[in-house]
Amino acid sequence: MPKINWEQTEKQSEVWGYLNDKTTTDILFGGGAGGAKSFTGCAWIIIMCGKYPKSRWLIGRKKLTALKESTFITFLDVCKKWGIKNGRDFKITGQQQNIITFSNGSTVYLKDLFLYPSDPEFDNLGSTEYTGAFIDEANQLVYKAVETVKTRLRYKLDEFNLVPKLLATCNPAKNWVYMEFYKPNKEGKLESCRKFVQSLVTDNPFIDSNYINQLKSIKNKAQKERLLFGNWEYDDDPSAMFSFDIISDLFTTKAKNQEEKFISGDISRKGSDNMPIGYWEGLQLKEIHVLPYEIRSDTKKSAQWIMDFADKKGVRRSHIVLDEDGVGGGVVDQIDGCIGFINNSSPIQSFEVKYDESKRVNYSNLKSQCYFMLAQFAEQGNVGVSETTDAIRNAIVEELGVVKQRDIDKDGKLAVIGKDKMKEILAEALTMRI
Ligand SMILES: Nc1ncnc2c1ncn2[C@@H]1O[C@H](COP(=O)(O)OP(=O)(O)O)[C@@H](O)[C@H]1O
Ligand SMILES: [Mg+2]
Repeated sequence: MPKINWEQTEKQSEVWGYLNDKTTTDILFGGGAGGAKSFTGCAWIIIMCGKYPKSRWLIGRKKLTALKESTFITFLDVCKKWGIKNGRDFKITGQQQNIITFSNGSTVYLKDLFLYPSDPEFDNLGSTEYTGAFIDEANQLVYKAVETVKTRLRYKLDEFNLVPKLLATCNPAKNWVYMEFYKPNKEGKLESCRKFVQSLVTDNPFIDSNYINQLKSIKNKAQKERLLFGNWEYDDDPSAMFSFDIISDLFTTKAKNQEEKFISGDISRKGSDNMPIGYWEGLQLKEIHVLPYEIRSDTKKSAQWIMDFADKKGVRRSHIVLDEDGVGGGVVDQIDGCIGFINNSSPIQSFEVKYDESKRVNYSNLKSQCYFMLAQFAEQGNVGVSETTDAIRNAIVEELGVVKQRDIDKDGKLAVIGKDKMKEILAEALTMRI
């Protein structure tokens, strides 16, 4: 390969320092668009391939198609810039044209890291070991994808005297990139093996001025804040029902009054891949179970599973609330004494309405009422979610975050857990009435 002369931006030198030290293992280069993030990742992989013959690297992104259409184009651009020639210095092979083999035997695998429901454990990644990995647009992945890649970073590390390194890039997002890197870094609590570097387009002298103008012309305020200014706190949208801080608090809050036990279940998730069943002690969501296909596809088996679970946990039938819309009805009918939840039914009125009309609540339906009540309880710091998997946690953060006041009546994308919780609140409301 020809000799490489990389003229780096200041941020690139900072990242480069972490990529070459003996202590850092995880680097997040994240923030605004055009901050030279993808270039940095590709440049690193190319240089390492040249320096360590027969090493093996991974470049990952949510979908292989997006990887090929964008990150890999940057890879080829960097190669071209440095006089590294396709056909002479490397070749592209593999059934999906996703393996790059350099003339010194080093290889790069382009990988799809999307969480497919059929492969929840990322078995598809196989047992292949890598020397290091670069993940572009990592905010689009679930954290488990990143953790799984990390377990594969072992290939020839001792031989090369290297430590495992993972470089991830992203735009600001309120999910694991924020919680695992951005926030701890801001608070000075980031572990020493992890590094966060803020990306800004204004730090990149190589950027085309048209590119900055394009970013400046973005109409959507939140998008502009994220991409032009690299602002991580962009989502303070007044119509959002759950602020990010309140959602984050759910995972550390311990709800008061945990004596009464409840089960809530979303058994009507049409066309969806899961059927979450929640177990609650008061307003503390203690356990979440996603029923496997062979059970959820059969109303009889689903009903039996829920009844067995209720017996095991000691939950009374009147404290089981299940979605009654669609397929739900069948399950509800098979569990004597449980409560069916109908999204579109009228909101629950307190008994005082009989005497005082001004006490009447004005929600368009029961579902809206429950969302508003959930938001209220969460704001008071009285709803907690006990240990969950990263996938569920991310689903809660992302899906509750998009619940907006005006959209509340639309049966659009609902929060997996949000929906569960509101049913539990219904259970509370119902028991309060009895
Ligand atoms: N060290 C560099 N030398 C020359 N051009 C660079 C360098 N770093 C970045 N660039 C250019 O800056 C532009 C934006 O970089 P890119 O990595 O795509 O940004 P991001 O991934 O942060 O959006 C690209 O045109 C890229 O080629
Ligand atoms: Mg990029």
